[in-house]
Amino acid sequence: MKLTLKIWRQKNSNDKGGIQTYPIDNVSEHMSFLEMMDVLNEQLIVQGTDPIAFDHDCREGICGMCSMYINGEAHGPDRGVTTCQLHMRKFNDGDTIYIEPFRAKGFPVIKDLVVDRTAFDRIQHAGGFVSVNTSGNTQDANAIPIPKDDADKAFDAATCIGCGACVASCKNASAMLFVSAKVSQFSLLPQGKVEAKRRVLNMVEQMDKEGFGNCTNTGACEVECPKGISLENIARMNREYLKASLASD
Ligand code: SF4
Ligand code: FES
Repeated sequence: MKLTLKIWRQKNSNDKGGIQTYPIDNVSEHMSFLEMMDVLNEQLIVQGTDPIAFDHDCREGICGMCSMYINGEAHGPDRGVTTCQLHMRKFNDGDTIYIEPFRAKGFPVIKDLVVDRTAFDRIQHAGGFVSVNTSGNTQDANAIPIPKDDADKAFDAATCIGCGACVASCKNASAMLFVSAKVSQFSLLPQGKVEAKRRVLNMVEQMDKEGFGNCTNTGACEVECPKGISLENIARMNREYLKASLASD
């Protein structure tokens, strides 16, 4: 395939940045999107041009690093996949593809397509953990019966990889889907009940401090989430938040 790539270039966080055009040919439909970017970068290096900075790590849909906005969609046109799992067969010969960083106040651009997502780490640090002692004296898992439905929902919530596509897709740059997945994965399980009130209050407070917007139930986050995290989690987090606020008064 022959493609025209229109890619956001930005030297650093202070640079204004802009779109630049890169033609590329010999792209195989079997390449992943990141492999196609690798080929382009090899060409740029040979030409003596600064390669395009983009985040990636596992290239298996696990780490959540490969944040790219492709033709106006977080992780591109496919559903239920990250950019590293997107294949070039989703595009046609002669296509023009726009590639931009995730954009949100809480995710400032560091360089080109790389954004700073440490805001998510700080939200996690505010409460996304349990303080159960798991060192050497663990209880047998079967000793704590958990309804199957709760276990399934907690597991589904725990599949969030913290990629930030929900924020990038939301017109308000809201992080509610991410935070609600992290709150839900614990609130549904007995081990998470101990710190439940503190957790939801602290995580929501940190989310607001980081400059993410509010949820207005548009649902774009759920559509673009590569892990299919459900909006149900936001409803659960709101209930948890209300319960915790009333209890702490
Ligand atoms: S909720 Fe989905 S889109 Fe948002 S960070 Fe988690 S995996 Fe990514
Ligand atoms: S590189 Fe890890 S999810 Fe894409």
